[in-house]
Amino acid sequence: MPQKIIIDTDPGIDDAMALLFAHRAPSIDLVGITTTYGNATIEQTTRNARYLVDRFGLSCPVHMGSGRPLFADPEPPADFVHGSDGLGEAGLVIPELVDDGGDAVAFLIDTLRASPGEITIVAVGRMTNLALALSRAPDVASLAKAVVIMGGALGRGGFGGNVTPCAEANIIGDPHAADRVLRASWPVTMVGLDVTMKTVMTPPRVDELKRRGGETGEFLHAISRFYQAFYTNNHGLEGFAVHDSSAVAYVLAPELFTLEAGGLRVVTEGIAYGQTLLAPAGKRYHLPVWQGLAEQSACVDVDSDGVLDLYMSTLLDG
Ligand code: RIB
Ligand code: CA
Repeated sequence: MPQKIIIDTDPGIDDAMALLFAHRAPSIDLVGITTTYGNATIEQTTRNARYLVDRFGLSCPVHMGSGRPLFADPEPPADFVHGSDGLGEAGLVIPELVDDGGDAVAFLIDTLRASPGEITIVAVGRMTNLALALSRAPDVASLAKAVVIMGGALGRGGFGGNVTPCAEANIIGDPHAADRVLRASWPVTMVGLDVTMKTVMTPPRVDELKRRGGETGEFLHAISRFYQAFYTNNHGLEGFAVHDSSAVAYVLAPELFTLEAGGLRVVTEGIAYGQTLLAPAGKRYHLPVWQGLAEQSACVDVDSDGVLDLYMSTLLDG
């Protein structure tokens, strides 16, 4: 039985890579896409999601989500990473939004209620929609099979943050929402920079996608030129980090990841704004903010070649 997933996403170049990865994986049934903001505005990410669905035949609905954080002012889109259109300025003709598909939060709630215990939410952008779903319908925390997030960092392997020394983009973009999501009683696995920065898609692999991957491979090659330039110029990397697809890889092959269990929280004020922290399972802390936390998991290591090989085989042989 394929695993039913909803992807909450801000396409976004690596989001597009993750969506097509999930679409091509035979053991995943992508039942819906909900959009969030970050890599581009909510209108643009929704247009991009719809473009991907239409062009590549993803048979699932797209629902537009919240366009701003719960409490903070929205930051400008990360166009220096993903381009002004969010998809790498590759000359795509992306239609205007005529219908936003309705309320993403309502879709999340209704879908979880309709299939209790069956749906995994893969959240690879700001977690505002998930936090709103928890507020509007607290029962959803007991209805999701699992929540896999791409976001955060625990500082393992030297990766503490990509926006500040200790904060990752999806978390700092709405830390209050992320804290709510990580504290909820649904089972969360955090796929953070600790593993995604170690998983680097190199030029030979992207070239192979272009050569052997048909229209999808050519598209992935085209949109990732901008992303590659960002990683070369800012990180000196020959290749780019596999962020959002690592969350999909975790759903497909959790054995590729090493986990640590514990309570997860997000810093919502001060110099460490947006930092994710893990309170190791079994350790007791006496301050109230560290008590009664749900036991969640965080990925602290990964078989990077295994993730990359899985991506390639799914796109090329699937
Ligand atoms: O920090 C990486 C994350 O931020 C990815 O999800 C990327 O798409 C952006 O949303
Ligand atoms: Ca993303």
